[in-house]
Amino acid sequence: MLWFRTPQKVYMKKGSLPVALEELKNYYNKKKAFIVTDTFLFENGFTKPITEKLDELGIIHQTFSNVAPDPTLACAKEGATQMNEFKPDVIIALGGGSAMDAAKIMWVLYEHPEADFLDMAMRFCDIRKRIYEFPKMGEKAYFVAIPTSAGTGSEVTPFAVITDEQTGVKYPLADYELLPNMAIVDADMHMSAPKGLTSASGIDAVSHNLEAIASIMATDYTDGIALQSLKMIFEYLPKAYDNGPNDPEAREKMANAATMAGMAFANAFLGVCHSMAHKLGAFYHIPHGVANALMLDEVLLFNASEVPTKMGTFSQYDHPHTLARYAMVADYLGLGGKDDEAKLKNLIKAIDELKEKIGIKKTIADYGIDEKEFLERLDEMAEQAFDDQCTGANPRYPLSSEIKQMYLNAYYGKHEEV
Ligand SMILES: NC(=O)c1ccc[n+]([C@@H]2O[C@H](COP(=O)([O-])OP(=O)(O)OC[C@H]3O[C@@H](n4cnc5c(N)ncnc54)[C@H](O)[C@@H]3O)[C@@H](O)[C@H]2O)c1
Ligand SMILES: [Fe+2]
Repeated sequence: MLWFRTPQKVYMKKGSLPVALEELKNYYNKKKAFIVTDTFLFENGFTKPITEKLDELGIIHQTFSNVAPDPTLACAKEGATQMNEFKPDVIIALGGGSAMDAAKIMWVLYEHPEADFLDMAMRFCDIRKRIYEFPKMGEKAYFVAIPTSAGTGSEVTPFAVITDEQTGVKYPLADYELLPNMAIVDADMHMSAPKGLTSASGIDAVSHNLEAIASIMATDYTDGIALQSLKMIFEYLPKAYDNGPNDPEAREKMANAATMAGMAFANAFLGVCHSMAHKLGAFYHIPHGVANALMLDEVLLFNASEVPTKMGTFSQYDHPHTLARYAMVADYLGLGGKDDEAKLKNLIKAIDELKEKIGIKKTIADYGIDEKEFLERLDEMAEQAFDDQCTGANPRYPLSSEIKQMYLNAYYGKHEEV
């Protein structure tokens, strides 16, 4: 069986935040809100419109503002301890992917202090079929997510990534219980996003859409959303990048497009681009979106092969036809091309032009990663990428050697057949 899941409510429109928050009082009768955000956003007044509205509504609140990028388990435990003392009936996560993910883990620890974290973080192939019974969420607190970047889509996804600071291991959690109950997509929160964040998080959303479209679990529902999201990103990301603070329309379109991309991959999942980006980010501290951008062309070429060494599992069809699916994207974006191969070429060209417009460099080497170190650690990185849980939904099942070759191609910026 297939389904499509999304938060109960997704508020959208610039300026929607205060109106949406009213619902917490008027409809859900919430009394105690726990806000989770990062230090920068807190110190720069991003929580103010929330706390002012909560004061007006008579909802008491406490704020945890100690989330750092790539949040740690220690941080989530610290937040959960404070939650246990404060006993909120609503959690409000405000931020980019880091703060929203940290808040999701705090929510789990608050609702289920008895649950074994390692069991929850176990590997899966398809979260619709997993064996571990994830504990039921939402019995103590309702979860509201407000993104400030456009973006990770975490506000509408059942995923959270947390790092164990002692071992450096990243635990990806995936279960629909982790889906926020409400998302508030208000471009007022995005207006001041700096260029680096705008480009990295915007291209992250591009990769979410392309991976959702290629995924073996893509459906008509996820396709429609991902295509429209891509169209919006190609038009508005360069504008948001060039003139974000003065272009509310571009910011709003990007805010919506990123959340739509989140909906697409929340239901169709991702693929080997994210597998490789996760490890590239972890090994060399490259921002998540940039890491995806660097691998994207390689993955498109790899997936489009009509005679793969190995197919993905759990396929809903005998053959993924990924080349035709990328051609469909090119058609939707109006890129032209006389056949599917030409359309794929045009799609890759359009992605490269987009990356250039938003200041993303061409190769891994361009990001100053030392060649000797890269080659020395390549086997380990490729093995870890192979093992990443995103690999399972990729239409072409990669061999470790193929992942290695894609990394090499992306490092040097020249494509050799894999
Ligand atoms: N759960 C998911 O579904 C999912 C999906 C993709 C990525 N992620 C995770 O999300 C994280 C990346 O998230 P991100 O790209 O949103 O970055 P981020 O949350 O790490 O934020 C990056 C920096 O930008 C600042 N910032 C955020 N919004 C701002 C704004 N409006 N104005 C000015 N500064 C702002 C933050 O304070 C922070 O310093 C990674 O850890 C990644 O693993 C999660
Ligand atoms: Fe991503």
